[in-house]
Amino acid sequence: MFRLPQLEYKLTELAPLFSEEQMQFHYGKHHATYLENLNKAIEANGALASKTLEALVLENSGPLFNNAAQAWNHTFFWFNLAPKGKGGAPSAELSAALQKSFGGLESMYKQFVDTGVKTFGSGWAWLCAGPEGDLKLVSTSNAEVPFKGSNLRPLLTADVWEHAYYIDYRNRRQAFLEAMKDYLNWNFISENYRNKNVRSLHQSMKG
Ligand SMILES: [Fe+2]
Repeated sequence: MFRLPQLEYKLTELAPLFSEEQMQFHYGKHHATYLENLNKAIEANGALASKTLEALVLENSGPLFNNAAQAWNHTFFWFNLAPKGKGGAPSAELSAALQKSFGGLESMYKQFVDTGVKTFGSGWAWLCAGPEGDLKLVSTSNAEVPFKGSNLRPLLTADVWEHAYYIDYRNRRQAFLEAMKDYLNWNFISENYRNKNVRSLHQSMKG
């Protein structure tokens, strides 16, 4: 069984990026519902109980994939955020890669916002690393993850489903994405860059 991951911040601590109400709905209801549905599917099929969350994402399609992937995507999203001023800075190694691939952090983040704004409908914007350490921006639809059928590993994501921002920003997706820049957990993002594997979130959600 999976449970919501424990966050290193209180639901009030990401304000004004997200209000407590936005967090209560997004973390406490939307994310929780994906986990409830995933747990129901596991209860109904004992063969799934021994699988890691990452394996459930990689080996399935349809509703089971959707719920496992949304459980994974949201946990990754919460972990790549931090209260303002508490997220550290990009590692030297990641800074060099940002410089090489985008001409620096500012330019990368501008294009990251653009990737999120241009994602049609519901989905996710991602900063990913390839096997050679090169960086790439990717947009995925609905529950899709960037590491299935590719050799990319995610470093950073933004949830651009309307439920992620509508309470606080209404239709202003770009304003939400721009505001997120001051709430990035660079310690988490840099660790994702250092680690050559896709981050395992399984233990963080194992109940
Ligand atoms: Fe979401």
